[in-house]
Amino acid sequence: MPLLAPSILSADFSRLGEQISIVESAGADILHVDVMDGRFVPNITVGIPVVESIRKITEMPIDVHLMIVEPEKYVVDFVKAGANLVSFHFEAAVHHHRIIEEIKKAGAKAGIVINPSTPVFFLENILEYVDFVLVMSVNPGFGGQKFINSSLKKIKKLKELIEKEKLSTLIEVDGGVKADNVNEVVQAGADIIVAGSAIFKGNIKENVLEFKRRLSYE
Ligand code: DX5
Ligand code: ZN
Repeated sequence: MPLLAPSILSADFSRLGEQISIVESAGADILHVDVMDGRFVPNITVGIPVVESIRKITEMPIDVHLMIVEPEKYVVDFVKAGANLVSFHFEAAVHHHRIIEEIKKAGAKAGIVINPSTPVFFLENILEYVDFVLVMSVNPGFGGQKFINSSLKKIKKLKELIEKEKLSTLIEVDGGVKADNVNEVVQAGADIIVAGSAIFKGNIKENVLEFKRRLSYE
């Protein structure tokens, strides 16, 4: 069954601990934390101290999605803060292989993220080294945007490449995923589903249960 990773970007930050407990007890699998620097993307969010605090209140694996320039400066610090998965943008780095090795050496799963306009074939020579690829299905920077439909084609292409190379790389999909399109995204090849606004807006517990119901059909 594909895994559900609620993104705290759309949570109420004044009640963050409480809302994380709600998603966890409703059955969420992974906690997605969006780190933005106001440079790689036009928005600023949270950093290392927030990951440290969250680490103390949840058993869920913490998945840090770095939308920052020079990710190599911070990856190890995020692992030390408690991240179990760390991903950085292909577009924000030059020495991809080196950064991946650093994340793994520090003890976390390493992922690479591609923007909607970055083609899958750019990953050809790095795919065998990453634990997962995060496919952005919106332009990174904000929650609540509309799913870009051509992402489905990209996910399928990536899945084919992974199968052709006989790799066990997981595909994570992030942006605009709702209960009513999640099955299409999974059928295209997603293993981990990130959802922010569709989880944290409205009844959080019901939203998680609805996603889990839909994912259980897969
Ligand atoms: C956007 C972030 C996402 C965001 C998704 O740059 O990477 O994780 O929280 O939000 P929704 O699910 O609302 O599109
Ligand atoms: Zn994200």
